[in-house]
Amino acid sequence: IQKQELLYEGKAKKVYKTTDPDLYWVEYKDDATAFDGKKKGTIMNKGILNNKISTHFFNLLESKGIPTHLVKQVNDREQIVKAAKIIMVEVVVRNIAAGSLSKRIGLPEGTMLPRTVLEFYYKDDALGDPLINEYHIYALNLATPEQVQTISSIALQVNDILREYLKDKKIDLIDFKLEFGIHKGEVILADEISPDTCRFWDVETKEKLDKDRFRRDLGNVEEAYREVLRRLTGESI
Ligand code: C5P
Repeated sequence: IQKQELLYEGKAKKVYKTTDPDLYWVEYKDDATAFDGKKKGTIMNKGILNNKISTHFFNLLESKGIPTHLVKQVNDREQIVKAAKIIMVEVVVRNIAAGSLSKRIGLPEGTMLPRTVLEFYYKDDALGDPLINEYHIYALNLATPEQVQTISSIALQVNDILREYLKDKKIDLIDFKLEFGIHKGEVILADEISPDTCRFWDVETKEKLDKDRFRRDLGNVEEAYREVLRRLTGESI
């Protein structure tokens, strides 16, 4: 398989076509953005770290029966994935209040949620990715009721798997964002799972090991991402 022309460039990744029409080639970049692209920066080696971290999580999820787009990691910054059509909905799962949920409903950051919260956001830069509900998904024709059912079920399963796995690594999974795609008629997990897309807090110290360090100018951003990789795989880069 060979990498061909650039198909799409996002904030954190580039997606290329390949010689196989069924596969894409993904390259992880060091670029970081926050607040709808209003804050821009670079996190050194983020592309390498997120590629390795996301590959690790996707392999874990595949081993537990979750269908994903990952085919294989090809090198430090790149992976080959199934050519899925992305559903334009971001699915956020929350175990502990933080970020926009704390802002929206007034629960202080760190408040344990009595039940897992599932949210949908419309992937639309011009609109600033607004919070939507299931009815809006149908109004916009973004997915069918059956697909929303599947997406919700997979998202909650991913939460159970990752929470338990991360507990062992002394990391609390506060919240995270997933994206899904359709491949050969099947809903599969797509995009990435990394410190860019999750909130990870150290179980003991509650130290943030995720992109909030960049968003809130807390410093030691690269170090936090490296610490996550080290806890997951033992690898130090
Ligand atoms: O900002 P908010 O609290 O809604 O974010 C919830 C979770 O979703 C966080 O883990 C954040 O990193 C992730 N997220 C994301 N991409 C977005 C918005 C949120 O990965 N566009």
